[in-house]
Amino acid sequence: MIILITLVGIAVFVAIFGYIFQRHRYSFWKTRGVFQEVPNLWFGKKTQYTKDFQRNLYLKYKNCGDPFIGYYFYHRPVALIIDLDLVKNIFIKDFQYFSDRGFGHNGVKDDPLGQNILFLDGAPWRALRHKLSPTVTTNKMKALMPDLLKVGQDMSYVISKKIETDPLIDFRKLITCFTTDVVGKCVLGIDYNTLSNPDAEICHILETYMDGFTREPFLEKSPKFPYFSIKWKLNLTPKSVSIYFMNVLQQIVKKRKEEKIFRKDFLTFIMELDSNMSINEIAASAFSYFIGGFHNNATALTITLYQLALNPLIQSKLRKEILSVLEKHNNEITYESLQEMPYLEMVINESLRTLPITPTISRMCVQDYKFGETNFVIPAGTKVHVPLNGIHNNPDIYPNPDEFDPQRFTKENIAKRHACSFMPFGDGPRNCIGLRFSMLETKIGVAEVIREFKLSKCEKTCVPLKMDPNSVVSVPLDEILLKVERI
Ligand code: HEM
Repeated sequence: MIILITLVGIAVFVAIFGYIFQRHRYSFWKTRGVFQEVPNLWFGKKTQYTKDFQRNLYLKYKNCGDPFIGYYFYHRPVALIIDLDLVKNIFIKDFQYFSDRGFGHNGVKDDPLGQNILFLDGAPWRALRHKLSPTVTTNKMKALMPDLLKVGQDMSYVISKKIETDPLIDFRKLITCFTTDVVGKCVLGIDYNTLSNPDAEICHILETYMDGFTREPFLEKSPKFPYFSIKWKLNLTPKSVSIYFMNVLQQIVKKRKEEKIFRKDFLTFIMELDSNMSINEIAASAFSYFIGGFHNNATALTITLYQLALNPLIQSKLRKEILSVLEKHNNEITYESLQEMPYLEMVINESLRTLPITPTISRMCVQDYKFGETNFVIPAGTKVHVPLNGIHNNPDIYPNPDEFDPQRFTKENIAKRHACSFMPFGDGPRNCIGLRFSMLETKIGVAEVIREFKLSKCEKTCVPLKMDPNSVVSVPLDEILLKVERI
């Protein structure tokens, strides 16, 4: 009996203590005079950690009049930014307050590939970002054109062969292979040729990486418990992926140095920056280009082609532009001919608007930040979330946001909107370093397909598209089957 009473007493004590602790934890914003949305479960709410949560929160409070509201992400206080002027300050004007991402990593020994610009913060990030800027100039992009075009042509060939027996193609799979082959060639100088061999080892390696990055483990390691992530050596990069890339990189770098091989790819551009760069430094930067280029571009290109299949008038208008420009350029896609296709860019931008690949951009406030003349202060150490998916789908900014309409991106229409109402690549000094490469790759992918093939939806095409609800980045949930006919 005494034992039972003691146990009940302990349970009551733990419950009361837990309640007070949770109340205190979830009063962070309230005590600072900021409106807050509090999770209704003691241990957080699963939906809070998925990409739709921030979008819906933004859409719910977009007209509340406050520049940001507070909420809790795995118990940590986060400022969800609403005011577009504040977004501009965070990314550009007052960047020094928000220069970090705050992922946390485990040092060179335990996580060599984690030492890249995506994950680094503070002075090491600044120095590396500055160092890498010569790798993404216009001349470097032009130098990558032959490899990009070769993979584009390989894709057209694979499509032609496939439709001889079946007009339905899974574009999710096809484009994943296309982008894998692109990053293989353009980043590492490796011919993976997954377009012909979709079961190659690299496909499984990348799947493992994306599973870790897009789902719980990545979330749990980083924003939830950054302290424990470092203490328990929970790497941002899965061990098997790290071992694979370090081995491959070591072999290629050794061969290139010994045999004085010069190839026009990102690995060469990185190695040229500084002859004293360690293998770990080279590997980490090459890895960030490989990963950034692989997944984001795969989704961007897949979604663009999907939208074109669903919108035949837009597709034929785009084909007209592509064919008429190519006619003037000897029917060849070149860097210059792509610059003469404004409608192609409008189509890609509209696709990135409807479905930003990074639905929420996350930054860490490194010094207490007061917003203009208001009393709103974001305390140092707090994360800020910029809800791109919400902003891009705000009907006050983009009327009928579900409608796919590239006309939103004419010069005149862009000029009517706030500069921060469209930021698929982020903005300011910490924006996407691969922006130009990414646009080039996506344009080549779209132009190669649309010049030769007509895409349309079929009975098996999923409309509307289902996205993986558990992922922090935008990833189609299932296959994307489209009907393909030769023009
Ligand atoms: C459609 C394709 C892509 C999209 C939508 C995209 C989007 C983004 C976004 C939103 C960020 C964060 C920006 C910020 O915090 O302000 C980012 C960062 C980054 N992206 Fe991309 N990206 C794409 C393609 C690429 C490619 C092709 C590469 C590499 C060749 C790349 C490499 C990186 C790297 C290394 C960073 C970290 C930059 C830093 O922290 O300094 N991305 N990207």
